Amino acid sequence: MKDKKHGGRPRLAPICNEMKLDFPSHSKNESFARAAAGAFIASLDPTASELSDIKCALSEAVTNCTVHAYPDHIGIIRLHIKLRTDGTVIISVKDTGVGIPDIKKAREPLFTTDAAGERSGMGFTVMESFCDSIKVTSKPSKGTTVTMSRKLSGKSSL
Ligand SMILES: Nc1ncnc2c1ncn2[C@@H]1O[C@H](COP(=O)(O)OP(=O)(O)OP(=O)(O)O)[C@@H](O)[C@H]1O
Ligand SMILES: [Mg+2]
Repeated sequence: MKDKKHGGRPRLAPICNEMKLDFPSHSKNESFARAAAGAFIASLDPTASELSDIKCALSEAVTNCTVHAYPDHIGIIRLHIKLRTDGTVIISVKDTGVGIPDIKKAREPLFTTDAAGERSGMGFTVMESFCDSIKVTSKPSKGTTVTMSRKLSGKSSL
């Protein structure tokens, strides 16, 4: 449904629940973030496949903070999840690390700045394939925010 007050864009369903979590960029906290997100999203009754997709996308974003945003120290990762009444899950992962100088380039499949040969440059591609939309904002030396959105197929329980 279009709404003139919103410039002709479809009106977004209201936010019905949200959570915020700050945690240090220890690699072991990636599994903690996955578990916390899974528990929170469970209220929307996702399928096993939807839950797996969302956790996978989240893992990629959190790992990027650990590996790239804070390459030589532990920094804070902020996870913010919002649920809309229509069953849309919006996940944002924010760091205040090194930032990304060229976001378009960074999002290209197989692009990586990893010189050690341990990374395949597929993290953003995975996030894109498992989400309906992904937005990346970043400033060198200030940090990066990745916001992903995925609408669940089933009915919302909220
Ligand atoms: N939070 C971030 N802070 C700084 N740079 C980032 C961040 N996230 C991604 N990048 C940059 O974008 C590049 C591409 O990220 P992407 O996740 O697609 O691949 P990768 O992390 O290099 O490899 P993979 O995810 O396959 O292990 C990274 O190599 C890095 O240079
Ligand atoms: Mg990555």
